[in-house]
Amino acid sequence: MLNKITVVGAGNVGATTAQRLAEKELARTVVLVDVVDGVPQGKALDQWESAPIEGFDTRVIGAANDYGPTAGSEVVVVTAGIARKPGMSRDDLVRTNADIVKQVSQQIKQHCPKAIVVVVSNPLDVMCWVTKQVTGFPRERVIGMAGVLDTARYRSFLAEALDVSVQDIQAMVLGGHGDTMVPLISYTTVSGIPVTQLLDKAKLDKIVDRTRNGGAEIVAFLKTGSAYYAPSSATVQMVESIALDKKRVLPCAAWLDGEFGLSGMYCGVPCKLGKNGLEQIIAVELTAEEKAALKKSAEGVKQTMAAVTL
Ligand code: APR
Repeated sequence: MLNKITVVGAGNVGATTAQRLAEKELARTVVLVDVVDGVPQGKALDQWESAPIEGFDTRVIGAANDYGPTAGSEVVVVTAGIARKPGMSRDDLVRTNADIVKQVSQQIKQHCPKAIVVVVSNPLDVMCWVTKQVTGFPRERVIGMAGVLDTARYRSFLAEALDVSVQDIQAMVLGGHGDTMVPLISYTTVSGIPVTQLLDKAKLDKIVDRTRNGGAEIVAFLKTGSAYYAPSSATVQMVESIALDKKRVLPCAAWLDGEFGLSGMYCGVPCKLGKNGLEQIIAVELTAEEKAALKKSAEGVKQTMAAVTL
């Protein structure tokens, strides 16, 4: 169990993440921070009051515009920003969220200089870069949540199509967190059986397409916000691997330095997460088609990076 985890942004993703972290008792204290006075305090108190019923001892505390209580956090999750509205791409958010993430990163650098930062704010790959640049933390300590969520969506659609347990679907979605993400069909199996033996190409293509638009599908339903149940689950799975030093291999956004032929940018790749944060990038072999798709996805991330001045 860690001593302290901070979640910045007490909106839908942040608050649900704090709740899941507390329910799993991944730290003694979970601090929820936001700019809107009253919201983090109220949500944290409400969650703490659920502790006697749920049976967790993690103290959830809220703070508005005050990073004092976050001091010394071992992990910080960044969900601050504005969420997508219908018709908005993740990239439309870039400038607004870059300014917000810059402010938050300065506070993290000052109050939690040893923290491992898990970035969730969108556009994800670019917000990871902003965080890394502003904090000056090494790549081991700035990781982005996207691939676990995209993979969970892909796995849920496959389980539905095959009428099998979600637990038996192994898969990995790489690339930037956007419409060009790369679900790796060549590594998708059902208890070790290649998925191509169980579903025809037309059905698989449909599932890949639905995965790529998984975020937009939720936004179209909700209208006033974006997904948060699955995003918070995905974030907590990453934090759990760090907090418990599980060394899980998960698709995460990592700063690339030549891996997969890419460098100077964040992109979703297979990562081993443990107590030191990003402990290894696993350079798996890709088919020619997957390589081309990853390159295209990376180009999209670079374009969005160009829209931000630091
Ligand atoms: N510092 C702290 N919190 C901030 C700041 C800031 N500088 N600026 C905004 N916030 C807070 C808002 O007040 C709000 O409570 O961030 C929270 C965002 O919550 P929501 O609007 O509910 O958005 P949410 O659905 O949680 O998504 C947050 O995660 O998945 C991504 O695309 C999503 O970038 C978005 C982020």
